[in-house]
Amino acid sequence: MTVAPSLLSADFLNLSKDVAMLNANADIAHLDIMDGVFVPNISFGFSVVDALKGKFDIPVDAHLMVVHPERWFERFANAGVKMLSFHWEESRGRTSEFIDRLHSLGLKAGIAINPDIPVSRLYPYLGKADYFLIMSVFAGFGGQSFIPGSLDRVSALKRKIEAGGFRAAIEVDGGVNLSNAADLARAGADILVAGSAVFNAGDPASVIRKLQAV
Ligand code: DX5
Ligand code: ZN
Repeated sequence: MTVAPSLLSADFLNLSKDVAMLNANADIAHLDIMDGVFVPNISFGFSVVDALKGKFDIPVDAHLMVVHPERWFERFANAGVKMLSFHWEESRGRTSEFIDRLHSLGLKAGIAINPDIPVSRLYPYLGKADYFLIMSVFAGFGGQSFIPGSLDRVSALKRKIEAGGFRAAIEVDGGVNLSNAADLARAGADILVAGSAVFNAGDPASVIRKLQAV
């Protein structure tokens, strides 16, 4: 299993320590960008994202929980981000255009949906997007409880991807931990995002390794 720890739960007073730990153990670094409008929370912006440029040996995956995400695609590409997901809820009928723009910037393009958005909204893009971010909590905060119905959403999407012979990956984000990771793997998840399960643990590296082993 590919594991993408979310920095939202990292120690921001000692970020370089957590960056080193992720470089040594994780597969992807997940950056949660929140604007306080699309979600009722504000996380961090380019003062942090730019400071992280070149510090990760692993791909950086930016999850944009913002309105008008297209305003920032180039800025994140210039900051060294390799994967970027925007919320379908904020694509305003321009989903394909956004994917093309991200590809033109050399980024992998992901579409994220909150738990109240049918996975069928993603079906027109199965052969176009590189990955789909299935939120298993409502976007906005770390440390929330996993929504169990997410498993059926992941398996339904996986069946459609496989039926069409597509290669898009499924990333699951929110309340992921060692007690639901195996179920998510069986349902068809390819990438697991975990924030609090990793950074609140006594031994974060060990949790990452156990998640990778499911
Ligand atoms: C929530 C973020 C998630 C969150 C994951 O809006 O998109 O990435 O930080 O944190 P946990 O794993 O603690 O739910
Ligand atoms: Zn996220």
